[in-house]
Amino acid sequence: MKTLSYGRQFIDDDDIDAVVAVLKGDWLTQGPSVKEFEERFAEYVGTSYAVAFANGTAALHGAYFAAGVEAGDEVLTSAMTFAATGNAALYLGGTPVFADIDPSTLCLDPKAASKKVSKRTKVIAPVSYAGYPVDIAPFLESAGSCGAVVVEDACHALGAERNGVRVGKEAHMTAFSFHPVKHITTGEGGMVATDSEEFARRLRLFRTHGIEKEPRFMTAPPDGPWATEMQILGFNYRLSELHAALGLSQLRKLDRFVLRRKEIAALYDELFEGDRVLCTPPRCEGHAYHLYPLQFSAGNRAAVFEELGKRGIRGMVHYLPVPLHPYYRERFGYVPGEFPHAEELYAREISLPVYYGLTDDDIRRVAEEVRRIADSFPNR
Ligand SMILES: Cc1ncc(COP(=O)(O)O)c(C=O)c1O
Repeated sequence: MKTLSYGRQFIDDDDIDAVVAVLKGDWLTQGPSVKEFEERFAEYVGTSYAVAFANGTAALHGAYFAAGVEAGDEVLTSAMTFAATGNAALYLGGTPVFADIDPSTLCLDPKAASKKVSKRTKVIAPVSYAGYPVDIAPFLESAGSCGAVVVEDACHALGAERNGVRVGKEAHMTAFSFHPVKHITTGEGGMVATDSEEFARRLRLFRTHGIEKEPRFMTAPPDGPWATEMQILGFNYRLSELHAALGLSQLRKLDRFVLRRKEIAALYDELFEGDRVLCTPPRCEGHAYHLYPLQFSAGNRAAVFEELGKRGIRGMVHYLPVPLHPYYRERFGYVPGEFPHAEELYAREISLPVYYGLTDDDIRRVAEEVRRIADSFPNR
């Protein structure tokens, strides 16, 4: 029996050849392939700049830094996200503030978020959960009223579109991840897209120890062509040439990857059509379907998850709301009940397999098993 997991990479001979070519060349650390990957990525998304990072978490950390987050500042985000969206604020001494989701999008609810805006809000970070392209306009409006910066966490949403505009173009900065379950992979890797030259400069500084190499950005005339200046405390968050070569090769296949994800989701939608209990994910033209979050009745979810596993279908649950992790509860005093929609999604959700290598027969097998298991519960 073929095991199907909720996500996996697709690597072909072109990808392997691209990495081998770098291994045989002169540059292994950040060099020409990273530069080209950034340029091609910016072109794809439609921004003036893209700055590569070692992973999506580092990309978020860099974006919050570039936005000016400092000790005591707040980063307002969705309760329904991966821990990294909140953690990156903590790395800077900031405070993550969580708001509930809109059940019709499963993304940060602009109304709930606006109630949590304060004098300390420095960043509003909506998350395009599962690949649903959350509407950025209301967050830009809220941010405008309090001088905050909008950093979209689009780690789920490369290739998604809002009204024909690619995700990455509208927020002040947009962070992406290239983890193997994502739309394209570099093994580990991330990117921030932006139209702002100043944000791009701060992002580059941050990922290389805070060290500036360009004479025009130095605080004093350089004392020679070797001169560098450390201007801020940064990190070593660089992407290597091996990763970038893989990213460039994967980027060429991105449209195919996204198209297949949409086809898979459409087939699941069709196969679950008419079921009165299973709740399919919100639909939307530009959805990029990083995940296919199907909702069951809360009482049955754990048993369905286990039964699917026994049949070789390894789903995943996305996510325990971040503020309900023990670390956040202990540090900030969050308690269950504060984020009813995110908590309900957590109680009911299983992400079904969605990735390029799945066949239509695989999808039919998953849908058949899901229905058979769900039907076996009397209280479905
Ligand atoms: C919503 C979200 N934000 C941030 C990240 C962090 O990305 P990475 O794993 O590349 O550090 C992820 C990764 O799973 C994610 O799903």
